[in-house]
Amino acid sequence: MIFSLELIKWYSENKRSLPWRNTRNPYLIWVSEIIMQQTRVEQGLPYYHRFISAFPNLKTLANAPLDEVLRIWQGLGYYSRARNIHYAANQIQQDLNGIFPSTYLEILKLKGVGKYTASAIASFAFDEYTPVLDGNVIRFTSRYLGVYGEVAKKENAKTMEDFLLLEIKKSKAPDVFNQAMMEFGALHCTPQNPNCKICIFKINCRAFADNKVNSTPLVKKSAKKQKRFFNYVYFDIENKGIPSTLISKRVQKDIWQDLYELPLLEQEKIKKSDIVDFFHLPKSSEKNLKKQFKIIHQLSHRELHVVFWEYHTSLDVISDTLSPLYEVIPQIKLSQKAFPVPIVSFLNRKEETEKILSLDKNN
Ligand code: ADE
Repeated sequence: MIFSLELIKWYSENKRSLPWRNTRNPYLIWVSEIIMQQTRVEQGLPYYHRFISAFPNLKTLANAPLDEVLRIWQGLGYYSRARNIHYAANQIQQDLNGIFPSTYLEILKLKGVGKYTASAIASFAFDEYTPVLDGNVIRFTSRYLGVYGEVAKKENAKTMEDFLLLEIKKSKAPDVFNQAMMEFGALHCTPQNPNCKICIFKINCRAFADNKVNSTPLVKKSAKKQKRFFNYVYFDIENKGIPSTLISKRVQKDIWQDLYELPLLEQEKIKKSDIVDFFHLPKSSEKNLKKQFKIIHQLSHRELHVVFWEYHTSLDVISDTLSPLYEVIPQIKLSQKAFPVPIVSFLNRKEETEKILSLDKNN
């Protein structure tokens, strides 16, 4: 039987029902592909629904303030994806009269859109014969063809691309072919211990014949993660009867650009006096500073050691020495801002603890 026919038959019997599979709308497909990059479907789905209900079309996304887009994105990570999709929505509105580009090469020009995403949109929305090569497709294809060298190498990528191009053409249904390749990689040709015995492709699978399934594909080990040490101070401020705190925006070109954060001191080994000095707090107030807890937060290339501190004070005491970098904000308004995940965890934990304490008091 022909490869693509076998694949598409499997897909029609095994596919998951996912919202972006029932549409030809390039905007919805684009959003789904950007969200699902480096995110598992179960994790990304609620974000997809949240994003689409906040920004149902290109125009609403382009007109939204970036802060709002980041707030909806909060928790997904890789925030440059959110900044880029917002930027590109404006690109389409302004340069292309609001009309989504309809060819692979035009789609590729959008900010934040690489070869994979352009192929996905061009095939799913416009039936272009552009094979996708995401992690799932690479795993399945490299095993099937017996591509045992590093998959990032040009000649290995080309072997896979040539095969996929031939097969997508034979399929006569580029959208279904691509979805099916991705789905087969995600559900059947899994990274560890795939069930090869019942695989419909086992007769022609090179890696199965060579007993090399578990060691394929060969991926170059990434460099060791850089460690960074963040100390965040939650200022619990009495401000004329309104419990307030301090935040600032991360404007520098670094992780979490354009998100908000608490006052930060980036330093590995730290004493209370370092914090008091750094934020120009009264020397005698060291006792008001308490270490809360530490979180180790993994990013793709970094390991963040984040320590949270709390400092109790009133605005009069710190207002003279307060850096203009910081914004004083009522604590109840914190949920309106977008923060990185470790800060959200800290704020949620704090809120939970306060609820329990006030329950105790009331009983
Ligand atoms: N992950 C990324 N894009 C996807 C898609 N279109 N279908 C299923 N999983 C995906």
